Amino acid sequence: MTRVLILNGPNLNLLGTRQPEVYGTTTLSDIEDMCRAHSDGAEITFMQSNHEGAMIDAIHAAKSTQDGIIINAGAYTHTSVALHDALASVELPCVEVHLSNIHAREAFRHHSYIAPVALGQIAGFGAQSYLLALDALGAHLEARV
Ligand code: DQA
Repeated sequence: MTRVLILNGPNLNLLGTRQPEVYGTTTLSDIEDMCRAHSDGAEITFMQSNHEGAMIDAIHAAKSTQDGIIINAGAYTHTSVALHDALASVELPCVEVHLSNIHAREAFRHHSYIAPVALGQIAGFGAQSYLLALDALGAHLEARV
């Protein structure tokens, strides 16, 4: 069975009430339910942390327990060399996800430290971005076997 870590970064615990005009009204718990319903038999570990170190620890732990990672690193996307290095170190296939289209927003959101170590990036489709990421990662993992 395919094992996927879906890792969410800072402030994403506030989804539902956080800037609904940007992020919609779907909560992170709703997104978790949607991912589990969409998982097609994959075993999903869903987590959120506001702390960069905790996210790095989760990526390290994934090396021996997961087949791939879906990550919405929130604002750390644009700042964290450490998350970039963690993902590069574990060498797991990774898909970068954003609810909003970061390229259509402020210039400081246009650069991603995750993108160079990801298979690809899905941004701008709200909660649906996560489901597209599951499909993309699933197809990648299937093509490898
Ligand atoms: C986000 C986009 C980031 O720029 C922002 O800091 C977030 C959420 C998104 O899902 O659209 O926290 O990752």
